[in-house]
Amino acid sequence: IKKIAVLTSGGDAPGMNACIRAVCLAAISVGADVIGYKYGYNGLLKQEYIPLDQYVVRNLLQRGGTILHSARCEKFKHPEQIELAAKHLEDINVDGLVVIGGDGSFRGAKKLQAVWDKPVIGVPGTIDNDITGTDYTVGYHTAIQTAVESLDKVRDTAEAFERIFVVDVMGREAGYIALNSAISAGADHVLLPETFTSAAEELVKILDKLDKRRKNRANKSHIIVITENLWPGGLNVLADSLQAESGVDVRILTLGHVQRGGSPVWQDRLLATKLGTYAVELIQQNEKGMMSAISHRLPAAIPLNDDTLTRKELNTYSMKIRDEITLLG
Ligand code: F6P
Repeated sequence: IKKIAVLTSGGDAPGMNACIRAVCLAAISVGADVIGYKYGYNGLLKQEYIPLDQYVVRNLLQRGGTILHSARCEKFKHPEQIELAAKHLEDINVDGLVVIGGDGSFRGAKKLQAVWDKPVIGVPGTIDNDITGTDYTVGYHTAIQTAVESLDKVRDTAEAFERIFVVDVMGREAGYIALNSAISAGADHVLLPETFTSAAEELVKILDKLDKRRKNRANKSHIIVITENLWPGGLNVLADSLQAESGVDVRILTLGHVQRGGSPVWQDRLLATKLGTYAVELIQQNEKGMMSAISHRLPAAIPLNDDTLTRKELNTYSMKIRDEITLLG
């Protein structure tokens, strides 16, 4: 192998830089040159790339964001653009491409692999942790850490005023961040896309839990974690109903994009380093259309197919304990 290319695509995630570094250093160690395409697949289509070497990636391990920038690329859904991308890779003699991103980026990688005969390897990089076939995605642990720190802080003010707080966390259509940040911060209720039924039914469950907890304890504060875009009509509708029914003051906190930023926690640095290095190994082995994944703590090559590109199911034990555990506080 003489030349490896890397790009970051879709929602950026803490640890993407660490992964770029790992790909770069692993490639250099097998004697290959490395280039980084900018702005995801857009850079591939516009032939916008930069050379990467050990000096460029110095101190990247701990830096949030992605030095290559990221983007969602609508154009990359069109077959002629994908052919063009393959041609651009051929024109400059790239021997393998590493795509760091989420499920949308992997769909693009799969299409590119169908028209290019050199390896395209995906590395799961998204805070959502919603990719089947890998235990974790790069960025997920840092996002949870950010959410947990915020929930701890909100708890202080909620207790002081005896208020209900509805805290909106990211995850798109996956409840991983909500479920595990809620358990880790000892939130009192969690609403997940995987189990949401209807506003009416969920409201009854929330009020029921609120009631039980108020009987058990003097303080009326209550923290509810919810995955983004879940409540029909938006969170003001939920807050108004809750306030009217409970007589307790309700406040909404949307954590938003802070969950995508910051220095990656050690779990994401380690994961990014393992998966980036393994992606280069897969290219060396001429493996095509694979995800460099982590499965039962070991690197694994998982084909980018319809199974991988479906949303990963939530951890069954976390689901089992979420209601028991949130009733205790
Ligand atoms: O996929 C990562 C993610 O942060 C999701 O959790 C969220 O739904 C989405 O990206 C937000 O995208 P954008 O930054 O384009 O608003």
